[in-house]
Amino acid sequence: MKAIIPAAGHGTRFSPYTKLVPKELLPIGSRPAIDLIVREAAEAGADEIVIVTSREKPLIERWFEIEPPPAKVRFVHQEEQRGLGHAVLQARLDDTALVLLGDALVSGGNASKAMAELSAANGGASVIGLEEVPSEKVSRYGIVKLDGTRIVDMVEKPKVEEAPSRLAVAGRYLLDPAIFGYLADQGAGVGGEIQLTDAIRRMLAEKPVLGYVYPGRRHDIGNPAGYFKALEAFNGIRKD
Ligand code: G1P
Repeated sequence: MKAIIPAAGHGTRFSPYTKLVPKELLPIGSRPAIDLIVREAAEAGADEIVIVTSREKPLIERWFEIEPPPAKVRFVHQEEQRGLGHAVLQARLDDTALVLLGDALVSGGNASKAMAELSAANGGASVIGLEEVPSEKVSRYGIVKLDGTRIVDMVEKPKVEEAPSRLAVAGRYLLDPAIFGYLADQGAGVGGEIQLTDAIRRMLAEKPVLGYVYPGRRHDIGNPAGYFKALEAFNGIRKD
């Protein structure tokens, strides 16, 4: 298993600070947020971590020169911002891909590790990390329809009346390598972007994809309010 961390976004919701420092380098204690995410991936069993970043954010690469990571880390640059699906495709792998969004910190245990264990116990099935959200927020997320533990449908940023549930895709994915074939010819979806959700939806027909409501909370550090909540959640957990 390898990991992909999409981290090429402009950080507009945290501007103007992010004109200077990428949001992925916001400190959680004395370490940047992306360092926690790399450690989560390594502890979950990823032996290589591909960070998808942009040439405008060289400080992320600099950090891992200063503090060597616990697993091999390499960087690919996303030249155009064409959506999450496009970002993940830049890291195209032949291996199972653990995708960890670079602006999503998950508290309450290692969700990626639990997902890797669930996948192993189910013949290597793909697993999507989920979190229940209030109805008024479903239009911000990918929303899934479950049949037991299996995802049978999913839709990116649905209107509340069209949402199949209140279970949102929540920043962590463990994906069969077939996903890269679907991403390669995925057309633009909502917002004119190549959506990872749309490619997974096509994969559902051919490969089992399980939903896993992880016990912890997702913290979106891409905006100041979410970042402050992440600091509260991680306060005392990491003192190093
Ligand atoms: C992305 C995904 C969406 C997911 C969300 C949170 O959306 O496209 O399916 O629910 O992350 O993990 P974004 O926040 O980039 O708009």
